[in-house]
Amino acid sequence: MRAAVAREYGDPEVVRVEDDFPEPALGAGQVRVGVAAAAVNFSDVLVVQNKYQMPAELPFVPGSEYAGTVLEVAPDVTGLRVGQTVLGATFVGAFAEQVVVPSFALTPLPDDVDLSVAAAFGVAHRTAFHALRSFARVRPGDELIVLGAGGGVGLAAVQLGAALGATVTAVASSDEKLAVAREHGATNVINYRAGDLRGALKAALPKGADAVIDPVGGGLSEPALRALRWQGRFVTLGYAAGDIPKIPLNLVLLKGAIVTGFQMRDFGANEPAEFAEGDRQLFQLLADGKANPYLGARYPFEDVAAALRHVADGKAIGKVLLEL
Ligand SMILES: NC(=O)c1ccc[n+]([C@@H]2O[C@H](COP(=O)([O-])OP(=O)(O)OC[C@H]3O[C@@H](n4cnc5c(N)ncnc54)[C@H](OP(=O)(O)O)[C@@H]3O)[C@@H](O)[C@H]2O)c1
Repeated sequence: MRAAVAREYGDPEVVRVEDDFPEPALGAGQVRVGVAAAAVNFSDVLVVQNKYQMPAELPFVPGSEYAGTVLEVAPDVTGLRVGQTVLGATFVGAFAEQVVVPSFALTPLPDDVDLSVAAAFGVAHRTAFHALRSFARVRPGDELIVLGAGGGVGLAAVQLGAALGATVTAVASSDEKLAVAREHGATNVINYRAGDLRGALKAALPKGADAVIDPVGGGLSEPALRALRWQGRFVTLGYAAGDIPKIPLNLVLLKGAIVTGFQMRDFGANEPAEFAEGDRQLFQLLADGKANPYLGARYPFEDVAAALRHVADGKAIGKVLLEL
């Protein structure tokens, strides 16, 4: 099968398309999906660089988010049938004509959902929604700060935070990213490269924020934490800036703040009922047209390295799609 393959760890350019990579074998409980489109995530870049929390064994096919059509179902799998359209999330394997995954890692799609949209929905929107709903506990009328607001998770958090009734303050590095964040529901926008983020947040939110969604880390986390009101919630999701911030704990004490981490796979494994209810609400927002990934760039499959490079360099606005 055609597949994008990493035979060594390194920069995005180590990933090359091969025409005769072996098809993955189908085991018990598994489903074979013909991939129609995949979305590129920052974590894919980290996995290729071998900087992710767990290593992928070489050689491997990167790719974690996709949508497609069921091609084959193991005899013990129930609830999925050949020909059904699905979206899925996996650690690696999605940048290929076929991916084989456990049946529980797939979500059946309504017939009328565009597979390009679905391919870009399963990671960023889910991460953002579960983090907003179950960890930041966003309620109508809340003031919400979203860091990395032009990126995949951040832009989804802007859109979904607004859908949950929050007033959203979007923080990003460029006016172009902030314009898209505004189109997706942000009320206040702050370009952190234009000056002092702490001062800008204080001016925008004099009473403080109820919650912060942080997929970036680095130097942005502390000023955002300082912008919380009494007993505000801070959710750390990832460190796209490359640096894991070290926060003075007295800031948490002084604000009575709740600082919490969110990792989608751990949440799904530890709180399946809460996860299922969040998914139900999110897919309803998709069906109602209130949740929709913004596809900021599309690449043909041959240009997989360029797509990874686009994300690695922090240039992605919304989601980056790889079309098979
Ligand atoms: N916890 C979870 O379950 C979960 C799930 C999905 C993703 N994540 C993590 O969340 C983070 C963001 O993912 P994403 O898909 O939203 O990525 P993305 O689309 O690439 O967005 C990341 C944002 O980080 C900012 N950034 C700052 N410094 C950067 C740098 N040196 N290189 C690249 N970006 C930089 C950029 O915003 P500015 O240009 O505005 O600075 C960029 O828009 C990643 O660390 C990812 O692993 C976590």
